[in-house]
Amino acid sequence: MLEVLPQLPADPILGLSAAFKEDTNPHKIDLGVGVYKDENGDTPILSSVAKAQTLLLEKETTKTYITPQGVQGYIDGMLELILGKGHPALLEDRVAAVQAPGGCGALRILSELLKRCNPDTTVWVSDPTWANHIPLIGNAGLNIETYPYFDKDTAGIKFAQMAECLAKVKKGDVVLLHGCCHNPTGADLTKEQWHAVLDIAKDRGFLPFIDIAYQGFGDGIEEDAYGVRLLTQNLPEVIIAASCSKNFGLYRERVGLAAMITANSTIKKSIQSQIQFVARGIYSMPPSYGGALVDIILNDEELKHEWQNEVNDMRVRMQSLRELLVNKLAEKGAQKDFSFVTSQKGMFSYLCITPEQVQAVRDKHSVYFVNSSRVNVAGISLKNVDQLATALVDVL
Ligand SMILES: Cc1ncc(COP(=O)(O)O)c(C=O)c1O
Repeated sequence: MLEVLPQLPADPILGLSAAFKEDTNPHKIDLGVGVYKDENGDTPILSSVAKAQTLLLEKETTKTYITPQGVQGYIDGMLELILGKGHPALLEDRVAAVQAPGGCGALRILSELLKRCNPDTTVWVSDPTWANHIPLIGNAGLNIETYPYFDKDTAGIKFAQMAECLAKVKKGDVVLLHGCCHNPTGADLTKEQWHAVLDIAKDRGFLPFIDIAYQGFGDGIEEDAYGVRLLTQNLPEVIIAASCSKNFGLYRERVGLAAMITANSTIKKSIQSQIQFVARGIYSMPPSYGGALVDIILNDEELKHEWQNEVNDMRVRMQSLRELLVNKLAEKGAQKDFSFVTSQKGMFSYLCITPEQVQAVRDKHSVYFVNSSRVNVAGISLKNVDQLATALVDVL
């Protein structure tokens, strides 16, 4: 029976990692997979996380299952982090939430929940969006449409076209928005644009689905929550998928959150039962470990402060790498103006060069990044920036 299924091509991003590993050039540069790296190219365990691990080791006395919704201290800590203290939906008991296996797990179970609400749901995603949004949402059986987002020619958001498109979506459609640090472009909505999206959502009656996977990597932990807070304070229903992979560096522990702002506490109870039912049918119980670590950090003033400093350090470093690259490119005589890279946010930048140029940089200079021209800014370092700029100028 199994022979009916053909071998699938390698995932483009994971395939890139494999090609990078095989490359024997000692000066190869990896700007592919979206993982934070330090100056040495390592992804270390955050110091706050290491301390939480020691505390957890002392405090954990059993490995029995946790509750279906997950570690409650984690859920409460994350909701406060994302929505802010004293958010009306929290005070009014209108938020259903479960710990999910990573942001991906959250995106998937929320998509399954939407399917249960209406099997014909259409989800609008930005053009472009993170490649994995498509299978995570589409494999749940939802229809996917795209709205205009990024203009490669101006290296900015096509907001007028985006707004025009959203103004035509049907009531009950779902619009996926990146809470901050848009993946893959690094181009984020301004405050004014978030307000405009809110007005259109009120007018059209669409449901915002906010994916926030990089809180703290853009302008700051509080600043990056501007859009999600604005929409959840002003609309009766918003759904949120969050991830702790990047800002807590907990990639392999698979820590995410699926949250649903509902119109009232009665609906919240139904939705809480529904999302737990969905999760039960896929993976039953969430894993405890990563959520337990985040619970310890967010509920301990000293550790939380240390974690906030670590996130700030990662953000500031990525911003300085953006500036470094732009200056180096100018110094090497690049004809193209790359200054837009410094205003993009988070871990990714779209260099707005052609797939052929991306391929040439890979073939001639062993610099690896995605064909769309998305680079992982955290992969740049003081050691490799000169070589990177030389390679880019050469192929341009
Ligand atoms: C936009 C976006 N959403 C969600 C995720 C999910 O991350 P994870 O499942 O590793 O928590 C990622 C990870 O790269 C992402 O870039």
